[in-house]
Amino acid sequence: MPEVIPIGSDHAGVELKARLVEELRSLGYEPLDLGTTGTESVDYPDFAHAVADRVERQEARRGVLLCGTGLGMAYAANRHPGVRAAVAWAPEIARLAREHNDANVLVLPARFVSSDDGVRILRTWLETEFAGGRHSRRVAKIDREQG
Ligand code: RB5
Repeated sequence: MPEVIPIGSDHAGVELKARLVEELRSLGYEPLDLGTTGTESVDYPDFAHAVADRVERQEARRGVLLCGTGLGMAYAANRHPGVRAAVAWAPEIARLAREHNDANVLVLPARFVSSDDGVRILRTWLETEFAGGRHSRRVAKIDREQG
């Protein structure tokens, strides 16, 4: 069964989202597009919570969000227990967000990355495993749990 990956954006990210939905499909994933669907102005938290709810409830292992800067989506998604949403504007950031921070939600700043870079960032994030070790202790401390 293909992994279902919820993905959402506001109007600023809708174009890049469409490209990433296609990319996810071509890589064998099952993207679950939670909107938005058009370019009319919408409120980013509505979409951040829709994706983060699924990760929080463990209905999905990971999710993807896009808005203009990535910031608003990350703020909203990170309110959800168990969600670690990382804004990545380069593949190297996406790699480190996985290796060091075990980021389970990728957030793309759609107004500040090209479409091709968005795809590269997504692929890097999908392919990179959490490094564990000392990083497990640090990630546990985010929620003030014992490492
Ligand atoms: C929408 O104009 C913009 O505020 C939004 O996409 C995002 O950047 C918010 O953090």
